[in-house]
Amino acid sequence: MKALLQQAARLLDVQRLVVFTGAGMSKDSGLDTFRDADGVWANNAPQDYASPEGFRRNPRKVWRWYAQRRRQMLEAEPNAGHKAIARLDALLPHVTVITQNIDELHQRAGSSRVLELHGSVHRYKCSKNCRGTPTLTPVPELTQEEPLPCPNCGALTRPDVVWFGEMLPADVWEGAVLEIAACDAVLVVGTSGLVEPAASLLWRAKSRRKALVEVNPEPTLISSIADVLLQGKAGETVPALLAALKEYRTGLH
Ligand code: APR
Repeated sequence: MKALLQQAARLLDVQRLVVFTGAGMSKDSGLDTFRDADGVWANNAPQDYASPEGFRRNPRKVWRWYAQRRRQMLEAEPNAGHKAIARLDALLPHVTVITQNIDELHQRAGSSRVLELHGSVHRYKCSKNCRGTPTLTPVPELTQEEPLPCPNCGALTRPDVVWFGEMLPADVWEGAVLEIAACDAVLVVGTSGLVEPAASLLWRAKSRRKALVEVNPEPTLISSIADVLLQGKAGETVPALLAALKEYRTGLH
């Protein structure tokens, strides 16, 4: 693994780095992934909990499910992998985290530029999207078990997360496309690479010949376009990668 870490460090010693993360990033913080055997979708039908139809069918059930996930995410702590990624801000000139995660653990770890492709469980918006754009209401009391009414139109509010069949927030998507086009390398951590359009950003990076380093305990769909696959857990492998990058940069100067 040491040789692979050194090879990865050389590829990531760049001016503009994108760090692209998925649920595996937060596994070492005690939060389940979606598609592992013990994942979120193993016990909860996505069409019931992560679709507009599911919310329309039973808004209270969906609201309570997210309230429970929000509690778990607030009780979770950023792991050593999140913290190592935040430390990259001080090491490289321009680091952008593009995450599919809704737990805000990258922000809590200290990463300064985070694009949330799939929103955040800690924000709410009107389910009727009144005023044309999401009305982000402050996070209600954690004990809130009933959908809050929209302060503007009275319709139910819902978590400001992207459900299956929904568009990603246009401004976030545009920002992510620009960061991928402008970056020199991409570090991919903890994603199966199965969900679009998020995963298409990685294929865009490859088509523009950007270096791509993947951290995952298992090979994934992305491994076929990765220059280096570091097989390991985010909480262990990303700190080791940061150490290798620091050592490489010290060796250069
Ligand atoms: N460290 C790093 N990666 C891990 C770890 C770990 N400790 N444990 C598991 N993984 C990897 C798995 O091998 C898998 O490749 O994390 C990945 C998780 O994949 P998914 O569960 O599919 O999660 P993700 O890729 O983030 O899903 C994308 O799908 O359901 C939607 O909106 C949801 O944002 C989510 C999107």
